[in-house]
Amino acid sequence: MKEITPPMGWNSWNTFTDKIDEKLVIETADALSHNGLAEAGYKYVIIDDCWAEKERDKNGMLAADKQKFPHGMKYVADYVHSKGLKFGMYSCCGTRTCANYPGSFGHEWEDAKQFASWGVDYLKYDNCFKPNCADDPLLYRRMGLALANCGRDIVFAACQWGTENVSDWISTTGAATYRSTGDIKDCWSSVLGIANSQIEALSATPNCFNDMDMLVVGMHGNGGNGYIAAGGSTDTEYETHFALWAMMASPLIIGADVRHLDEVSRCILTNSEVIAIDQDEGRYAPYVLRCASNLHNTFTLVRLLSDGSAALGMFNFNDTAALVSVNFFDVGLSVRGMSMRVRDALHHEDLGVRRELLSATIEPHGSAVYRCTAVND
Ligand code: GAL
Repeated sequence: MKEITPPMGWNSWNTFTDKIDEKLVIETADALSHNGLAEAGYKYVIIDDCWAEKERDKNGMLAADKQKFPHGMKYVADYVHSKGLKFGMYSCCGTRTCANYPGSFGHEWEDAKQFASWGVDYLKYDNCFKPNCADDPLLYRRMGLALANCGRDIVFAACQWGTENVSDWISTTGAATYRSTGDIKDCWSSVLGIANSQIEALSATPNCFNDMDMLVVGMHGNGGNGYIAAGGSTDTEYETHFALWAMMASPLIIGADVRHLDEVSRCILTNSEVIAIDQDEGRYAPYVLRCASNLHNTFTLVRLLSDGSAALGMFNFNDTAALVSVNFFDVGLSVRGMSMRVRDALHHEDLGVRRELLSATIEPHGSAVYRCTAVND
């Protein structure tokens, strides 16, 4: 199924890895629907790897782990749906998943039908244990075709880590999103690495969103078997991480434990004006502006939005505060008789009309997000 805007939801992997069960999924669905996250747009509840029995059943079908999911997957899906949410699951294009559970290679059609019969709305599809005889486009097209014929609308979320020139061929597979990077960790250097790998390689792939991996906002160094929660990040870094993902129209999939989310993280994740930029239906690609007068490691991402305004995300990756400026001429404004009406999207504040230039002093690892509308003087 095509998604018109980047999918938003929650995924079990970042915090819980293999420690997942029915109770967690049910409590997560409850939390999303009570704490404002569902209302803000987070609708997919996605179970990642480690949900299955270690081997297929005697009929060759995937089977839910009986200890973890004693009532089976349909029961969990029905509960998630009863909350007005959507249900996501995980499989892999190879013979085993990345955590060594059965994969879908050679079983794509029966697995797609089974996911449909359980009520799955979204399938994350990983990239481990691939047979040598098949290349990645073929492996992802196989599941894409099976999903397109399984009798249910299922969002196909390719998780292929940005290898094999994925952006060249992924939109031939039926995927709605594609992972464009390796796995994220909850620390500034990881967010920085992912952002830096993406900002110079921004591409709008038709019908397929660039997935920069699950959000770490709110993890605060918890869970993830230690290695994903790699020390945690500061609130400023979480805010910057969220603004980067939104400016780049990445899916927004929360990886923290939403049952125990701190209030600052909840506010970052539910910032309606930042989410509106992520979800803009114009689907234009962002571009990067590096102004000569600005400090090294500062830059502005600009994205044309469907109402004709321009979103400006200013970022400071340095360890000291920095002044970041954008000349409106560089965004396309006429130098004669035009200005920008500026709205601070992070703080929901109108800043009035600005001529020629927008500047902000940005704290270390910080960001500013503006929505600018051209006006005649
Ligand atoms: C990785 C993937 C992670 C997670 C993990 C599960 O390949 O990038 O997001 O799904 O596998 O084993």
